[in-house]
Amino acid sequence: MAEYLIAPSILSADFARLGEEVDNVLAAGADIVHFDVMDNHYVPNLTIGPMVCSALRKHGVTAPIDVHLMVDPVDRLIVDFAEAGASFITFHPDASTHVDRSLQMIRDAGCKSGLVFNPHMSLDALKYVMDKVDMILLMSVNPGFGGQSFIPATLDKLLEARALIDESGFDIRLEIDGGVSPKNIAEIAAAGADTFVAGSAIFNQPDYAAVIQQMRSELAT
Ligand code: DX5
Ligand code: ZN
Repeated sequence: MAEYLIAPSILSADFARLGEEVDNVLAAGADIVHFDVMDNHYVPNLTIGPMVCSALRKHGVTAPIDVHLMVDPVDRLIVDFAEAGASFITFHPDASTHVDRSLQMIRDAGCKSGLVFNPHMSLDALKYVMDKVDMILLMSVNPGFGGQSFIPATLDKLLEARALIDESGFDIRLEIDGGVSPKNIAEIAAAGADTFVAGSAIFNQPDYAAVIQQMRSELAT
C-alpha cells in the first residue's frame, strides 16, 4: 500500500446520496473509505451497519472499506461485515472481552484487523497482540461525532505507537481519526501517522479534490 492513505469518513457525507458521495470522494483522490459504525451503546450515536457496506459494494465501490466499529459487543458483527465487503475491521479493545479472539476472528474472516484507542487510553492492550494487528487507530477526538477538534496529546501517543510498530518489525498501519484537516496533517504525519481519516474537513467543503490535494501537498512538504 502507498506510504500515505487519505481515508474520508462518510459520517459527514450526505447519507441521502451515499453512493454518489463515495464515488465523488474516490474520484477526488481518496484512497480508502472510512466507515463509522455506532450503536448508541458504546457511543452515544447511531449510524450504519453491514447492509450499507454491502450496498456500497453492489453500487460498484472497489476501494478498500475501513470499518471502524464503535459497538459493544464486537464479535457478532465481524462475519456480517466481512461478508458485506469490509477490507479492514477495527474495534475498541474495551468493547471486547476477548480481544485476541476478536482479532483472530477478523483475520479468519479474510479482513485486515485493527485496534482503536480512545484519547485517554494507553496502548497497553497491544503488548501481547502486535502479531495480530494490521492497523492501529488512534482516536484524536472522543468517538461518537464528526466535527470535533483534534486533541493535541494524541501527537505524543502517535510517537509512542510509531516506536512500537517500528520495534515490532510488523507491517502495521498507523491511522489517526478525529479533527484532521490540511492545517494539522503535516504535524500528525511527522508524529508517525500514515493513514488519515477526515470527515468534516472533506465533506463540508464543496470541492473534495481541492481538500485532498491540499492534504497531499502538506504531506509532501
Ligand atoms: C468519530 C468518528 C470519526 C469522525 C471523524 O467517532 O470515528 O471517523 O467521522 O470526523 P472529523 O474528521 O470531522 O473529526
Ligand atoms: Zn472513525
